[in-house]
Amino acid sequence: MSTVVLVGAQWGDEGKGKITDFLAEKADYIVRYQGGSNAGHTVVVGNEKFQLHLVPSGILYPDKVSVIGNGVALDPVILLKEIDDLSSRGIDVKNLKISSRAHIVMPYHKKLDSLQENGGRRIGTTRRGIGPLYADKISRTGFRVIDLLDKDLFPERLKAIVEEKNCILEKIYGSTAFVYEELLDEFRYYAERLRPMVTDTSLLVNQAIDAGKKVLFEGAQGTLLDIDHGTYPYVTSSHPVSGGACVGAGVGPTKINRVVGVVKAYTTRVGEGPFPTELFNETGDLIRQRGDEYGTTTGRPRRCGWLDAVILRYAARINGLTDIAITKLDVLDTFEKVKICTAYRYRGQIIREFPESLEVLRECEPIYIEMDGWQQDIAGITRFEDLPLKAREYVNKMVELCGVNHCLLAVGPGRSQTMVTRDVFAPA
Ligand code: GDP
Ligand code: IMO
Ligand code: MG
Repeated sequence: MSTVVLVGAQWGDEGKGKITDFLAEKADYIVRYQGGSNAGHTVVVGNEKFQLHLVPSGILYPDKVSVIGNGVALDPVILLKEIDDLSSRGIDVKNLKISSRAHIVMPYHKKLDSLQENGGRRIGTTRRGIGPLYADKISRTGFRVIDLLDKDLFPERLKAIVEEKNCILEKIYGSTAFVYEELLDEFRYYAERLRPMVTDTSLLVNQAIDAGKKVLFEGAQGTLLDIDHGTYPYVTSSHPVSGGACVGAGVGPTKINRVVGVVKAYTTRVGEGPFPTELFNETGDLIRQRGDEYGTTTGRPRRCGWLDAVILRYAARINGLTDIAITKLDVLDTFEKVKICTAYRYRGQIIREFPESLEVLRECEPIYIEMDGWQQDIAGITRFEDLPLKAREYVNKMVELCGVNHCLLAVGPGRSQTMVTRDVFAPA
């Protein structure tokens, strides 16, 4: 059995796409288990850049099986566009499988997401309909892929739901209604395009695990965006944490071998909500510029700050991390001094564990250790031992502070800019 769950250890955009693509070379199955097109996973291969939202980041290996699990919020408009774009770029998507139990993002989900954002409630969402979709799933008024494929039941259910949604759109938001017949036509088309890819992916993945295949579960978003464990309400509406892989792919916890947390060498966040190490000065601007920190999905500038080890320890605990994959170390190349937050000061008290209360977090001031920067271009280095001493010291400090060893280090977006320090698919 050789299974790895890969999760974002911070607020998303840690470089999960790049690391998934890298690990996919050795994997047989790559499985997305939650989130939807709010995710933006970048994979760079040679001169080509791919920005994936719903298709797993293993897709660039056409012989591997890519799976969209039941926990994913599946937007057929975006998925089909992504498939068409990949095909037009010569990427074969014949091995893409879609769970019959995944929930379908409908146009009213996206509209409601935007209306809610424009109104009083500002989370800074991606407006991809994620909150309204998962709300419908939990309140048992959603459509699963299997429901969409049912030619008899779908029209009937859609009619009732559209009536209800139109009532909310018109009466509560003063917005325009959807026309049932138009939606039905549109979604009948999607159903037929998706149908050949749909299967019971839990069965497929479990059979693969039992057959000794290597399975990589690709998380979207990050630990602090988890609906239960993140900085609620400034979170997404799914479970990016490792436990989410079991529910969102239909595999038992006893089937998971390793959990890799992807950690950016500093911290970023998109959208609203407290962020203790955020920098509002030129250092923050320099990180944004050097790290090209602009949202893959929305193009928004990402908020930037120093690495926060309180968050890393929290992520290690919530996810049961066995390894960390460190990304974007090269972004810190030019800094004379680099800082890591080791604890917070709150009203004169020292806090070492990530607080539950957002009001406390808002007032937390980071306590930093300062280290010398390496001030050397490391983007071409391929072995950990060859990194400058100061860069190794920074990495070693990260490991010491979060208590989890590294398996990978990335020093650039390309495939070759990745150092392996432990084979996560190797038997324990
Ligand atoms: P994800 O959502 O976690 O997959 O991350 P994103 O793709 O949204 O953002 C990460 C960005 O950093 C992408 O543009 C990647 O190409 C880029 N990237 C990933 N790893 C590295 C790295 O080690 N160094 C640099 N400079 N860029 C990286
Ligand atoms: P990847 O997979 C970073 C953020 C949004 C917003 C909050 C809720 O690329 O790391 P949502 O649209 O999910 O309801 O928005 O979550 N967010 C992300 N931030 N990376 C992501 O995905 C994100 N997906 C959602 O900015 O603050
Ligand atoms: Mg992203």
